[in-house]
Formats: sequence, structure tokens, C-alpha cells
Amino acid sequence: MEYMKRTVTCGDLSVKDEGKTALLNGWVDAKRNHGGVSFINLRDRYGITQIVVDAQSAELSAAAANLHNEYCVAIRGVVRRRPESMINNDITTGEIEVAANEIVILNACETPPFQIEDETSAKEELRLTYRYLDLRSRGMQARIALRSAVTFAVREFLTEQGFLEIETPTFIKSTPEGARDYLVPSRLYAGKFYALPQSPQIYKQLLMVSGFDKYFQIARCYRDEDARGDRQPEFSQIDIEMSFVGRDDVLSLTEAMMGHIFEKTLGIKLPAHFTRLSYDEAMNRFGTDKPDLRFGIELQNFAPFAAASEFAAFKNALNDGEERRAIALEKGITVSGGAVKAIVVSGKADYSRKQIEELEAHCKIYKAKGLAWMKVSGTDAAPVLEGGVSKFFTDQTEKILAALGAKCGDLILIAADSNEKIANTALGAVRSKLGRDNGLCSGEQFEFVWIVDFPLFEFNEDEGRWEAAHHLFSYPQEKYHKTLEHDPGAVKGDLYDLVLNGYELASGSIRIHDPELQKRVFKITGLSDEESEKKFGFLTTAFKYGAPPHGGIAPGLDRLIMLMAHKTSIKEVIAFPKNSFAQSLMDECPGEVDAAQLAELHLKIETGK
Ligand code: AMO
Ligand code: AMP
Repeated sequence: MEYMKRTVTCGDLSVKDEGKTALLNGWVDAKRNHGGVSFINLRDRYGITQIVVDAQSAELSAAAANLHNEYCVAIRGVVRRRPESMINNDITTGEIEVAANEIVILNACETPPFQIEDETSAKEELRLTYRYLDLRSRGMQARIALRSAVTFAVREFLTEQGFLEIETPTFIKSTPEGARDYLVPSRLYAGKFYALPQSPQIYKQLLMVSGFDKYFQIARCYRDEDARGDRQPEFSQIDIEMSFVGRDDVLSLTEAMMGHIFEKTLGIKLPAHFTRLSYDEAMNRFGTDKPDLRFGIELQNFAPFAAASEFAAFKNALNDGEERRAIALEKGITVSGGAVKAIVVSGKADYSRKQIEELEAHCKIYKAKGLAWMKVSGTDAAPVLEGGVSKFFTDQTEKILAALGAKCGDLILIAADSNEKIANTALGAVRSKLGRDNGLCSGEQFEFVWIVDFPLFEFNEDEGRWEAAHHLFSYPQEKYHKTLEHDPGAVKGDLYDLVLNGYELASGSIRIHDPELQKRVFKITGLSDEESEKKFGFLTTAFKYGAPPHGGIAPGLDRLIMLMAHKTSIKEVIAFPKNSFAQSLMDECPGEVDAAQLAELHLKIETGK
């Protein structure tokens, strides 16, 4: 088909082109008519160009009248300067307009279900059903372009560093990464299934055994887990693995890669090194292993004041915690004791009872028994503790204020529990809520922080067994090798997370490369030799053939772009995401298949159970 093909894009023209004839293709973004003169904003992904249809030509005026929003058109015309008063400095083509002399409709458009705006206000359901239209918006176009630029920067950086991009299969044997697998039934082997990879973890380790000492892949991963703003059932990782490295090599490489990405795509210079916190320190100071460092409100130790008070709830928490710890210690097992932790919310002594109750309700979601409070009032020269639990602490006012750094006008919130982790986590959740509610984490800055020295195992109370905190292949730090089986809860691993503005951006670890050590770790998590042989025999076998020491990391690509674009949902940076119920509304997937397909796959659907 011959049609009027563009000679320029809608973002190209400037005053330099004055007097030239240009042919543009694009979509009608908006149309206005002023006294017989039509103004058409023509849009494509490069920008918007204003087209003017003067009133003189009846034929052109009629053609312009036929145009409606989102029509796809070709327009030929002459570039001219806009009158001074009409200059629009917000767009690159804002100094010119094109006086049309030919208008051709390439394709009409039905009335769109929502207006294409820079940032749409349409309901998510509509946006996802008509995603191809939603993607026309300036915001979506910019974010998809950012995503492309970031993946290019990743490839540029890692290739320059000597990494090889290697694809691994997406039909695999299930790898244990904590979520449920998506399964693909086999036609050739009745009752057998492939799994879609939750990550290329095992394959990248096998590539290390093969001698590809620097591997990366922009890898598609599939996990059947509950949806959240920062999760999708299918997502992408910048998957990296390296041989003959220690933890700090992986951290340095990641820092340099992030530096390259931010500089190349956003023009932002990141610090050469990111802050590091041990897991214990992050939990103690922020009550989470994903702290948002854009604001303070750190958790502080209130135990000494609690111990010296007569407030039973706090004292009991400490005493019960100590008892628990002592009993466990007798068995040689390390568990945390109780804790009383406080945060100071600057200038919020005017919080109403209702506001505080809301915070307490939030705290209780995280298993806390309550959230005690007191206010600092009086004067700067003579501050006093007032309200809430203050009557138990007035005799320690001076010491408390000095230790916590609290002053007149501040609100003090306190959580106590016989389990330190609960006190920290619950108060940490209150801290995060305060950050969100008070706009403390809406800043444009990027606060990266490494969390290192994670526990290797977590106790699954429901199943009564130890499980891997990250995955089964992470290396227990050397000093714990002797006591691995005896006290799994105390074992720290060479595991690290990269956190950005309160989101877990990347996880990684140095891996076990010794088959015997790997077996011991399997065993602690309840996998017998036979079971681990059945599940991972190929990996442990491979490790017998001169496996090199190795380690790696996997930043989530979607989360990275989401944070770079200052969004809170990864759907905003994925061209065709699933909704919160793992459905694609546009093509109605998952969908039914016909009986013949099921039969071929040896499947029978049972419903109503
Ligand atoms: P992990 O499971 O922690 O580690 O995942 C690494 C990173 O992937 C991103 N991510 C997700 N993004 C969107 N939707 C999801 N459902 C989702 N799940 C995870 C996060 C996360 O930090 N194989 C290991 C890595 C390694 O050890 O090298 C792994 O997959 O940004
Ligand atoms: P009570 O003496 O039980 O009425 O509690 C007085 C205040 O202390 C209330 O505001 C409770 O929310 C709070 N509180 C009780 N137990 C705890 C706890 N373990 N940690 C923090 N606050 C608590």
C-alpha cells in the first residue's frame, strides 16, 4: 500500500526548519477550532506538533472537521514560526507550527474508552483491557523508553566488564525459590510437567561449573505468589553470576552497574559505594530488612527505662523474653530475648487519640500487643512527659529525653514484646507508616543500602522446621560451619540484599560449592539425602567436577524501573502486565482450552471441588 509516509516525526521540527515542507504521521491528540481556524495536536512517540488549518481552503477545513481524537493521520504542510504569544516552551516543537496543505486519514478511531493523557486517571481495569491505548500516553511511553534504555545500559556495562549474556531454558525442572511454580504439562510424557523458572538460579551456577566465569541474562522469571504492588507473576531479573569472587566483588560490581545505569539514563551520579547495614543492625534501627533511608525516626532502646519503671507490660516483656532466651540457651540454641523499643516523632505531640489509635492498630497487624505513647510538652527549657504511659516514666524524664533526643512538641511511641523481632518489626511498620503519612518518603532522592549478614535459616513455625531464608545454595559464613546443625538459627550466611527507598531491589549470595556442605544444608531444611538427590542430584553431581567458588546477585528489573520512574506499582513499567488477580484482561488469559488439547496433554479438569 502506498501512503503518505512521514519525512519527519512529531518531535523533530524547530525554527531551523522554517519554510520547509514536512510530512508527518501520527495520532490526533487534541483538536480546537478558533474562528474557523483549526488547531490539531499531532502526536507520536517523539513529541507533539501543532498543525494549523487556515480557514481559506474549504476542502482542508472539511478534512480537518472530519478528524477526531486518536485518528491516525498523515499531514503535509509548511513549517512556520508561531506568533510570539503562542509559543509553548513546554514542548520541543513549541516555537513552530505546520500550516497544513494536505490531510489524509490513515485510519479512523472509535471513541476511545478513556482519554489518552500524559498521566491517565482512567480505572486500572479499563487501562489493562485497552492496554494498547493506555501505552499511547506520554507517561507510559516515557517509562517503556526508560526501560529500554536501562536494559541497554545493563548490556553495555556488563559486556564491557567481560560478562557473557547466556540464555537458560524456560522449561525446567522446578527450582525451589519459595513461591509456587507455574507448570507446563508434557504431551509426550503423560503425568509429567515442566516448571517455568522462578529464576535461573541453578542454571547460572551450572554455568560457573562450565567455566563461564562472568554470566548475565535479562531473565524472565515466573512465580505463582500473592500479588502486591511490586510483584507480578512474570517479571524480569538482571541475573548475574561470577566465579572466583567474594562478597565484596559482587557488591562493587553491582554498585558500579547501578552507577552506570543511573548516569546513562537519568543523568544522575550515584555515590561510588552504598551504605552497608548488617541484618541485625537494620532490624534494630529500622525494624525491617528493607529500610527506607530517606527519613530518620530510628528505633531506639527503651529497655533500661522500662526495667527501672513500674509499668508491668514492659517489665513482663523483658522478663518473659529473658526466660525464653535462657531456656533455649540451655539447649545451646540462640534465640533473641525481649525488647522495649521507642521512636520519637518530631513535632507530632499534637496527634489526636484517634491518630494514635490508628498507629496502634497498624502495629498490632505485626503481632504487637499494643503501642504505648507519651507526649513531650511543657517548654523547651522545662519539658515534661504527658499522657499515655507517662505516669510510669516522669521520674526518669530528663534521662529519657536525653537518651532519645526528644524535645518539647514530640511524640514518643513505644512497643514492647518478649520476642525482640516482634517489637522491632511492629514498630518498624509504624515508622514506615509515619514516613508515608507525613510525606517523608516521597522525596525524589535515591537511597541505596546494602543489607548484609542475613541469617541463613528461618524457623517455619507452622511446619516446625528450618528453611532457607534466601535459597538453599547460599554459603554459611565460615565461622558457623562447625555448629551448623546444632544451632541453625544463629548461622549467618554470605547473603546480601540491595534495598532502594524501602524496596528490596536485589538479592544475592556467595554460593556453596562443596557438595558435602551443600548436603548438610539440605539436611537441616529437612531434605534427606534421597530427596535432595532426587531434586538436585544434577547440581550436587556437577559440583563433584571441580566446581569453582562462585556467587551472584539478581536485581529485579521491573522494580528498578518502577523506582527510577517514581512509581509504586510495577504495572506502570511493564508493557503488558497482569492485574492483581494474575489475569490479562486484554486477551482474557488465563483462558479455557478445548477438550482435544486437554486430552493430548493427558489432563482432566475437575470443577466444583
Ligand atoms: P530473589 O527471589 O530475591 O532472588 O529475587 C531477586 C529480585 O527479583 C525481584 N523479584 C520480583 N519482581 C517482580 N515480581 C516478583 N514477583 C518478584 N520476585 C522477585 C526483586 C528481588 O529482589 N536467584 C535469586 C538471586 C540470586 O541469589 O542470585 C533470586 O531470584 O527485585
Ligand atoms: P494497659 O495497661 O494494658 O491498659 O496498657 C496501657 C497502654 O500500654 C496502652 O496504650 C497499650 O496499648 C500499651 N501497651 C500494652 N502492652 C504493650 C506492649 N507490649 N507494648 C507497647 N505498648 C503496650
